[in-house]
Amino acid sequence: MADTPRIRVLYDEAEIARRNEEMARSIAADAPADLLVVAVLKGSFMFVADLIRAMHRAGMAPQVEFVHLSSYRNATVSSGQVEILRDVQSDVRGREVLLVDDILESGRTLAFAKDLLAARGAAKVSSCVLLEKPGKRAVSITAEYVGFACPDYFVVGYGMDVAHAYRQLPFVGVIETADQANLPGI
Ligand code: IMP
Ligand code: MG
Repeated sequence: MADTPRIRVLYDEAEIARRNEEMARSIAADAPADLLVVAVLKGSFMFVADLIRAMHRAGMAPQVEFVHLSSYRNATVSSGQVEILRDVQSDVRGREVLLVDDILESGRTLAFAKDLLAARGAAKVSSCVLLEKPGKRAVSITAEYVGFACPDYFVVGYGMDVAHAYRQLPFVGVIETADQANLPGI
């Protein structure tokens, strides 16, 4: 096996769990109990699994759906194009929807998903992301619920990958490669 790169923890399990509970309480205060949660695969699978359980504890009974979108294609730089790899199966007409994604970076993925669901007649589409990289937006979109404002590093873990690896990590971390070694502020 190749040397395992060192991963520096950026947000640990306890911090993420605490923030998920807070976000779930905010969502519960704003949204109807039967909100339709649409998780953007693959990166959000771990986050949404924890978030919906926190939503349950906050008194909600959301329905949960998945859409698989791709814009990255094994690279760490966005291609700028968003593709639907698997569509939602539910009729979203008249529904209040919460999109859940791992990271809001250029905003293209979330804007694409939001426009898609709005065009299909969703009554309201809001968004919840675990991480937001400020100053990276290529399209104008804001998420109503943001876990953490994240420094501009390529992060992995808690569902997020580089070339399909590291999704299993229970925390969010940064791979210490030559260009990301000794990063300031983390
Ligand atoms: P956007 O369309 O540029 O906002 O990119 C959002 C998507 O890019 C996220 O859902 C992630 O899948 C992916 N992404 C952006 N930054 C990172 C990162 O640092 N690590 C892993 N995936 C990322
Ligand atoms: Mg993603």
